[in-house]
Amino acid sequence: MAVSGATIIAGLLVLLVAHQFLSNWQFNRKYKLPPVVPGWPLLGNALSMPFPAGMWGVEMAKKYGEMYTCYFGGKPYVFLNSSRVVNVLMEKRAAIYSSRPERPMTQGIMSGGARMLLMPHTNRWRNQRKIMHSILNGRSAETIFVPYQELEVKQLLYDLLKDPENFHVCNQRFSNSVITRVVFGRRSGLHDKQLKDILDLVEILGQYLFHPLKNLPDVFPWLHSLPKPLQWWRRGAEEYFNKARDLYKAEFDAFEKKLKSGTARPCFAAELVAGAEKKEFILDETEKLFVFSTLLEAGSDTSRNAITQSIAAMATNPGWVKKARRLLDEVCGENAERLPSLADRKRLPYMNAVVKEVLRWRPFIQTGVPHMLEKDDEYEGYRFPAGTQFAWNAYAIALNENDYKDPVAFNPDRFMDADLNSPLKGHWSFGTGRRVCVGYNVGANNIWLAVACLLYCFDVTEDPDHPIDTFNTVWDVHKDAPFKARIKPRSQAHVDLILNASKEALASDY
Ligand code: HEM
Repeated sequence: MAVSGATIIAGLLVLLVAHQFLSNWQFNRKYKLPPVVPGWPLLGNALSMPFPAGMWGVEMAKKYGEMYTCYFGGKPYVFLNSSRVVNVLMEKRAAIYSSRPERPMTQGIMSGGARMLLMPHTNRWRNQRKIMHSILNGRSAETIFVPYQELEVKQLLYDLLKDPENFHVCNQRFSNSVITRVVFGRRSGLHDKQLKDILDLVEILGQYLFHPLKNLPDVFPWLHSLPKPLQWWRRGAEEYFNKARDLYKAEFDAFEKKLKSGTARPCFAAELVAGAEKKEFILDETEKLFVFSTLLEAGSDTSRNAITQSIAAMATNPGWVKKARRLLDEVCGENAERLPSLADRKRLPYMNAVVKEVLRWRPFIQTGVPHMLEKDDEYEGYRFPAGTQFAWNAYAIALNENDYKDPVAFNPDRFMDADLNSPLKGHWSFGTGRRVCVGYNVGANNIWLAVACLLYCFDVTEDPDHPIDTFNTVWDVHKDAPFKARIKPRSQAHVDLILNASKEALASDY
């Protein structure tokens, strides 16, 4: 008897549905996940999660509680909505909660497999983490970075005095110049193409990492088995990789030229070259370029966002500005006697609290960075399979009333406690567990110094025609300012102080 095509297709469909049903049944017998946000077959929640997802995450947390599960490409992704559960799972159980999911698009093609941030918990990651730690550890942060931060902040104040409307570009240059000086021994200027290119690369990567609908090839890694001509994303991803590689290669080539002519300044690139010659580091060419990429991108993009957010906090929450200003005046003088410096940290503990509150208030990495669980695990009646992704739901925790009293307000006093001097404690903005930000000392000092100097020298107010929406602003845009604010020097004495102090920075053009 002949069997028609339609019957075969119908039969296959029945088999597929039965297979799905059986796998779900087997999965549910073995595992139990926190409440699942309803989604679509196959795509799961990719259609409903907006970008950026901060306020969506807050809404979901209100609806589903301390943890909820989304599905992307059939794989579970658990959002943790309180410090309590982040602390137990991602922090205390870091030994098995510190890997990263497979990302054949963003890591495989766009980063040539070499971007540390996206590496799973392997020896290759450990090797790179060691290299990063060697230049970013607490001691280096104090001895190597501080002099450059002190120089660059003077340039920042000068730039803000001259072009306050473009405060976002001034902050970008400051953060980029600190790390470029440490890595390549050169400073950067306000209109450097390299700075713009770096922020373009980070912006695109961020969209691919945090917007599942934009990045189906990572959501469905099996798509990479399609014949290459059918992989519609490949060309764009390869172009991205080439652009990144060329950018850092050009930077390294320029540095090597200086090294050969004896004009290079002492810097990390010089140490890397010397270390590679002595076989202290084992890095292939792509990895070497992506070590530079990681440092320059992580160093440039994060601090500039935090400093920009502090400006929004000054404009919308004047109470804390008054207190910080009074304390700064007590130490540096009421009549613009001198600028605050990192040497003042012991005398200005309130500023440490300001740094933490800047990081807590409206975390610009809005839903955290996913870690992947390496082994099956159990917690409070839930049973999680290996391969589940977990992220601290940053906005949801920051705005959770059980975690913070009056969470909406910008109130540094909440951090005036026994953990004041531990920059990682009390918020999750530097991440958690073994993947915690390796540059946190440098980042915290960048914010401390820039915010202290800004508070000391400028009055920042809201423009009544352009009120700042502190919940829905997309903080990390870089071409335009994310909001408007009025930034004016406090007095002529403060203008004179900035002009005097910045002379050294304006004269150091290298
Ligand atoms: C305000 C400043 C900063 C913030 C808020 C920040 C935040 C973060 C976050 C959230 C992560 C992911 C952590 C996780 O997955 O648990 C991270 C990782 C990382 N950060 Fe930072 N960061 C900052 C500054 C810096 C600086 C200045 C550098 C270096 C120059 C840096 C280098 C890195 C590196 C290399 C990683 C990858 C760590 C890994 O995967 O093991 N960061 N950072």
